This record gives sequence, C-alpha cells and structure tokens, in this order.
Amino acid sequence: MPKKRGDKDRYLQIIEAMGEGVLLISRKHRIGLANASAGRMLGWKEPLRGKMLEELFSGSELESRVDDVFRDGGQQTFRITSYHDAIGSDAVVRGKGREKQYEFCITLLDEKYAVATFSDVTMLERLEMVRKDFVSNVSHELKTPLTAISGFSETLAEEDLSEEERKGFARIIQKNAAHMERIIGDLLLLTSLDRTEIEPTMEKTSDSRILQEVKAYTQYKAGSRDIAVEYASAGESIICNESLVVQALVNLVVNAISYSPQGTSVKVCTKRRGDMIDFIVSDEGYGIAEEDLPRIFERFYRVDKARSRESGGTGLGLSIVRHIAIIHKGTIKVESALSKGSVFTLSLPVS
Ligand SMILES: Nc1ncnc2c1ncn2[C@@H]1O[C@H](COP(=O)(O)OP(=O)(O)OP(=O)(O)O)[C@@H](O)[C@H]1O
Ligand SMILES: [Mg+2]
Repeated sequence: MPKKRGDKDRYLQIIEAMGEGVLLISRKHRIGLANASAGRMLGWKEPLRGKMLEELFSGSELESRVDDVFRDGGQQTFRITSYHDAIGSDAVVRGKGREKQYEFCITLLDEKYAVATFSDVTMLERLEMVRKDFVSNVSHELKTPLTAISGFSETLAEEDLSEEERKGFARIIQKNAAHMERIIGDLLLLTSLDRTEIEPTMEKTSDSRILQEVKAYTQYKAGSRDIAVEYASAGESIICNESLVVQALVNLVVNAISYSPQGTSVKVCTKRRGDMIDFIVSDEGYGIAEEDLPRIFERFYRVDKARSRESGGTGLGLSIVRHIAIIHKGTIKVESALSKGSVFTLSLPVS
C-alpha cells in the first residue's frame, strides 16, 4: 500500500534529521539502525549499522546498561563515559586517552530490540565541574585568611597583653583582611570582564604612558626583592582601556618579580608589529614546566602552591590578564623554560 510506505519513509527521514543520536540495538548488542547525528557525535565516517556496541563505546558500562533494559524492561536514563576515539576539541584528555560523556535514554521496543537516544554532554559536565571547582576554590581561599582573622581577634580580646603584642596581632588581622579584599576585588573584576554586553571605554594613550604607570605601581615590589626592572617603549600611540591594560601589565610584572630569584633582572618593552603592539615582559626566573603552561591562565591555578602563597598569590592574576586581552581583541602568549625564565607577550590592536 503506497500510503503506508510513504509513512515509513517519512519516519525514517525524521529519525535521520534528529539532533540527538538514535540507535536501534539488538539483544546481542548489534546496531540495527543509526541516524546521522549518532555517526557525527561518535566521529564515525562509515555506517554504524551492523557494528557492535562495544566498538562504538569501548570502556563504558553501556553494554551492561543495555542488558538491564532487556531484563527489566521499561526505560532507563543515565550518563556514561566513553574512552574510545573520543573526538572534538571538547573531548577530555585523561591518562593516555580522550574521553567523552554521553547522556542516554534507552527504551525496550520488543523481545529483540531496544532503541537508544543519546546526546554529547561532555561540555556540560565540564562546565559543571568548573563551577564546582570554582566555588570550592573561592571558599578555600577566603577561609584561610578568615581563620587567621577570627583567631587573632579572639586573642586580641584577652586582657593581659602588652601594647607590643596587641599591635602585632592587629597587624596580622589587617594583613589578612587586606588579602581577602584583594581576592574579592579580583573576583569582582573578573566578573565584570566576563560581562560581554558591557564594552570597556576606550581612550587614546601611548605605550610609554602605560609603562610609566606600570613602573609606578610595581616599584615597591621590585625594591623589596632586589630585582632590577628595565623599561623600553617603542613610542607608539594606542587606543585601549588604559587602566585595564596597566592592570594586566602590573600582574605580569609582579609575577616576573615574584617568581624570580633575588638579584636577577626583568625587562618590559613594547614593539610595533603591523597593526598590533606587543607588550613583552621577560624574566630570568624559575620558569614554568611545559605541562603547566596550558593551565596557568585558569582561575586559581598555581604551579607551586607554597611559593605562590608565600608571595601572597591566589592564582587569579593571569586569568585577569587573559580576560583583558580578550576584551581588547588581543592575545596573551607565554614561552618559558625551567630555571631559565619566562616571556609573556600581551598583543593588543593599535586601535
Ligand atoms: N613569570 C613567571 N615565572 C614563573 N612562574 C610564573 C610566572 N608567572 C606566573 N607563574 C606561575 O603561574 C601561576 C599563576 O599565576 P597568576 O598570576 O595567575 O597567580 P598568582 O601569581 O599565584 O596569584 P595572583 O596573581 O592572583 O596574586 C603562579 O602561581 C606561578 O606558579
Ligand atoms: Mg600573579
């Protein structure tokens, strides 16, 4: 009957057009039908029909989940992690392989077949993880100074303290409160930089003016660590948000000073490159290992927690630099070698 045949083609067309992956799975785990989205999500160019489930989702618990559906009937929804040939830039690299997360919904059709719909939730899972990490990092970073503040203020309330002791405790409280203020200030700045709907105000200034300000803000730090900082500007004008660019460079220069042994030197210079200006901060410090390089721009990431904390760092500085580069449509790059030093290049469009 022609009408029935037309209906069937229509259903197949609809399944083929779905954004979710669709698989018909036999009791023996063989794929009876698969739509285009399933192939695309799994990165298979050849047809999936006839393949075994274990080929497509190796290392996952999907097979046993399918067995459950054939045994218990009904419908089951769950997430799996698959380790085999995960493709795409969002595939999570862990151990030696890459992995992806999929959300599945499997329904028993009849004695022989179950139908599965699935979607790739790797990105979602990752965002969820970033959010959880972020909250736990913020809490941890604020708890440390807060514990000191509450501990020392309790001691301060005791009566038999000398004037000297009292002052000493008050100074510790002040120092920790200042540290908390800085963390909160950095977080608020990051949040405001995240707001893509707000365009920063741009003004005309020059690289030499910017370097002068950076020098003024970082002099105290260089002096305290006996590190000579040299400045050389190309004498170019630039349209940017001056205070943000100064803030980014201050973060880079303070890092260069903090993560270098005493007596070494730091160089800050600018170079015109086509319609970009490169702000280059180089040091002769401890350097950064290759495996840490891709992560240093993440919020709260510190290579050497002890060393960074000793210098009062929270791991927010470079993520602020990266955000400032992005909102200027510029870039931030780093080259580094352990115990040789690091070169950070902030490239911004001239206008
Ligand atoms: N010039 C550098 N040389 C060596 N390591 C560096 C350098 N700059 C950054 N790092 C490493 O990268 C990490 C992240 O830097 P970032 O500026 O984001 O955080 P921080 O300096 O620890 O804290 P904050 O800047 O928030 O006070 C640092 O903890 C440090 O381990
Ligand atoms: Mg820093």
